[in-house]
Amino acid sequence: MRRRVVAGNWKMNGTQAEAAALIRGIEQGLGDVRRTEVLVCPPFVLIPIVAEWLGGSRVAWGGQNLSAHKSGAYTGEVSGPMLRDFGCSHVIVGHSERRALYGEDDQTVAEKFRAAQGVGLVPILCVGETLAERESNETERVVARQIDAVVGMVGIGAMDSAIVAYEPVWAIGTGRTATPEQAQAVHAFIRGRLAQTSSTVAERLRILYGGSVKGANARQLFAQPDIDGGLIGGASLDAQEFLGICRAAD
Ligand code: 13P
Repeated sequence: MRRRVVAGNWKMNGTQAEAAALIRGIEQGLGDVRRTEVLVCPPFVLIPIVAEWLGGSRVAWGGQNLSAHKSGAYTGEVSGPMLRDFGCSHVIVGHSERRALYGEDDQTVAEKFRAAQGVGLVPILCVGETLAERESNETERVVARQIDAVVGMVGIGAMDSAIVAYEPVWAIGTGRTATPEQAQAVHAFIRGRLAQTSSTVAERLRILYGGSVKGANARQLFAQPDIDGGLIGGASLDAQEFLGICRAAD
């Protein structure tokens, strides 16, 4: 049985006061969520205070991105060792917004994935197709390419200490969720593709769904056999919504 994961991706949102209220709200309501792994990924500048508030709690925290480099002349970047220094256990890599808006290609994403694991961070590798790609029946080709780029660089064994998030681009922030069946089909495809190399690794891998997940639709999504939790954007900024999703996962 794979342990469920619910991760909040705050994206570029939140003041210190808002983050404090959100964290407090989540912690207070988490008492009845017993089995699910819960984590939040705040913007970099909020990580130190989130770390202070969450230290000793059962909610983990992570970054939304990292540099492929450890240190040096990379103005504006944040490295894996820095995230570790602030207690991060996870980091999102290859989010579709990074790919689309900041030109991160499969090679860059694979390098970031390797850099994350190199310092003991669990990468949450995001994959997913655009609407145009789905409509031209390219979903599997795109997702396979995104997964293969990483496995080609780090090897199948590395997937044992990673999480994958399937986030169809057309479902992100649009209110248009993939149906549980649509999501399940891609999750099964991802697991099947990895199983061609190692059925053990494929069976253990947690694959999260992301894209307009809310308290109201989470239960149906998580009921699918290959959906092991969620990567939550908008709804992770509302403590009660986020808690609803955590309970659905539990
Ligand atoms: P929404 O939940 O806002 O659609 O965002 C999903 C996402 O991109 C999480 O990484």
